[in-house]
Amino acid sequence: MGASGAARSLQHMLTSLRSRPPSPTAVRRAFLAALVMNTVIVVTGGAVRLTASGLGCPTFPRCTDDSLVVTREMGAHGVIEFGNRMLTFVLTAAVLAAVVVAWRARRRDLLRPAGLLFAGILAQALLGGVTVLTGLNPVTVMAHFLLSMGLIAVAVLAHDRASAAAAGDDPEHDGVRGEIRLGAWLLTAAVALVLVLGTTVTGTGPHSGDKEAADRLPFDLETVTQVHADLVFLVVGLTIGLLLAVRASGTPGPLAGRLRVLLGVVLAQGAVGYAQYLTDLPVLLVGVHVLGACLVWIATVRTLLATGTRSGLRSASPAESHPEPAWAAGR
Ligand code: HEM
Repeated sequence: MGASGAARSLQHMLTSLRSRPPSPTAVRRAFLAALVMNTVIVVTGGAVRLTASGLGCPTFPRCTDDSLVVTREMGAHGVIEFGNRMLTFVLTAAVLAAVVVAWRARRRDLLRPAGLLFAGILAQALLGGVTVLTGLNPVTVMAHFLLSMGLIAVAVLAHDRASAAAAGDDPEHDGVRGEIRLGAWLLTAAVALVLVLGTTVTGTGPHSGDKEAADRLPFDLETVTQVHADLVFLVVGLTIGLLLAVRASGTPGPLAGRLRVLLGVVLAQGAVGYAQYLTDLPVLLVGVHVLGACLVWIATVRTLLATGTRSGLRSASPAESHPEPAWAAGR
C-alpha cells in the first residue's frame, strides 16, 4: 500500500470513529476520570513526600544510574516513589481518553482543555524530574504542587461543561449579579493564596521528602503557619458573605449550593489544619490535609464557574456550530 493508500485508510478509520459520537454521559465520565486521576496523583505525590521517599529513585528519568525501574536494593522508599512515577501512565491514559472522547463528540470547547491537561502532564513529568535532580528543592516542590492545582482547575472546568451538556442544563447562569461575580473572583484569589502559603509552610516545615534533603525555606514555621491560617479566616468570611448576598438577591442556579459545599469543605480542612499543627504534623493528618486542599480548590473553582457566562456551552451538540472539517468528512 502506497503513502496515499495509507492516508486514505487512516482517514476512513478516523471518519468511522467519529460517525458514532459518544453520549453526553460518556463525555462527562471521561472528564470526571481525568479530574479524579489528577487529584489522586497529588495525594500519592504527598504520600511520597510524607513517607520520606522523595529520593527513593535518586535520579530521573531512570530510577538509578544502572536501572530504568526500581530495584530490590532501593527498598520501600524506592517502590513508593517509583509507584508514583508509574501512576503518571494511568493519569496519561485517562487524559488521552478524554482527548479522544472530546474529539469524537466534536466538542471543541472540551478539546482545548483536554489538550491543556495533556500538555500539563508533560510539564509535570519534567518538573518532577527537576525536583528529584535538585535534591527536592522546596521551591520546585511548591511549583510541582501548584501546577497540579492549575491542572485540577482545567479538569473541573471541562467536567463542568460536560456535566451541563449531559444534564441538558442552561449553563449561562444569567441571573448572577456583577457584585457577586466579583466576590467569587476575590474568593478564588484568596483560596489560591492560601494554597501558595500552604506550600510555603510545607517548604519551611519538617516534611522535606527525604532525610538527605536538608534545604528548607528561610522562614519561621510558626509565623508562616499563622499567616496561612489567618487567610483561611478571610476565605471563610468571604464565603459566608457571598452566601448571604446570594440568598438576599434570590440568585437562581447552583451557586448557593456550591457555596454551601465550599463552606463545609473549608471548615473541615481548617479543622484538620489546626489538628495537625497542634500535634506536631503527624504524616497521616498532613496527608488528609493535602487531599483536603484539592477538595477545597475543586469546590472553589466550581463556585466560580456557577457565577459566569460560559460561552459555547449551549452548543453541546455542536454539529451545527462546529461543522465537520473537510478532512474528517472525507471531502
Ligand atoms: C481552606 C483551608 C486550607 C487550605 C486550602 C490549606 C492548604 C494547604 C496546602 C496546599 C498545604 C501544602 C501541602 C503540600 O505542599 O503538600 C498546606 C500545608 C499546611 N497547612 Fe494548610 N490549608 C488550610 C487550612 C489550614 C489551617 C487552618 C491550618 C492551621 C494552622 C493549616 C496548617 C497547615 C500546616 C501546618 C501545613 C504544613 C504541613 C506540612 O508540614 O507539610 N492549614 N495547607
